[in-house]
Amino acid sequence: NQQPILAPSILAADYTQLGAQIQACNKAGIEWLHCDIMDGHFVPNISYGPAIVQAAADSTDAFIDVHLMIENPDAYIRAFVDAGANQITVHQETCTHLHRTIQSIRQHGLAAGVAINPATSLQSIEPILNDVNLVLLMSVNPGFGGQSFIPATYQRLQRLCTMREEQQADFLIEVDGGVNLDNIEKVSRSGAEVFVAGSAVFKAPDIPQRIADLREKAQI
Ligand code: DX5
Ligand code: ZN
Repeated sequence: NQQPILAPSILAADYTQLGAQIQACNKAGIEWLHCDIMDGHFVPNISYGPAIVQAAADSTDAFIDVHLMIENPDAYIRAFVDAGANQITVHQETCTHLHRTIQSIRQHGLAAGVAINPATSLQSIEPILNDVNLVLLMSVNPGFGGQSFIPATYQRLQRLCTMREEQQADFLIEVDGGVNLDNIEKVSRSGAEVFVAGSAVFKAPDIPQRIADLREKAQI
């Protein structure tokens, strides 16, 4: 098994201390930093845009993992490339021409991911599995941090692993929403390799210690 990749989501950070909180993540040697972009249309909340992603990218050497929960993602790819994204993940539900959008992200030299909501079938991304670097399974309904992990995700992770073997594809599997100290081991055993954690990291009394603890439990 490969080393678990921890991807703290700055959605849960204290924005008055954003630089210091990212430094705390750096201290723990985070692999990735997850940026949640919400537009108030695809999801019922507005988060932040490319300027914050750029500030985050300037504050860390970690891989900048941008999760677009926005309609018409094609119109914003360039802005997030310029902001310093290393990977852009788009929702299947927002893309009329998903294959084209994935190609366009890769043509900018970035890694490309596809995300699906808890009620979207795995079958809907089957045709694209050989073209993506990552599949993100939402384990909450996107829009807000601090929600509870939806248990049906465990089985979806296992099914996605099987599909990957069948297709001999080599994307990473990321899980996003409600991941914490209590469930991360089971999430890992079910097949996740990249673990987004917002509240579990940024609401912790000691951020570097919490990252170390999450990583240890995800190690199987
Ligand atoms: C939800 C976002 C998640 C969220 C995770 O719409 O995509 O990345 O920030 O936050 P927690 O870990 O608090 O559920
Ligand atoms: Zn996310």
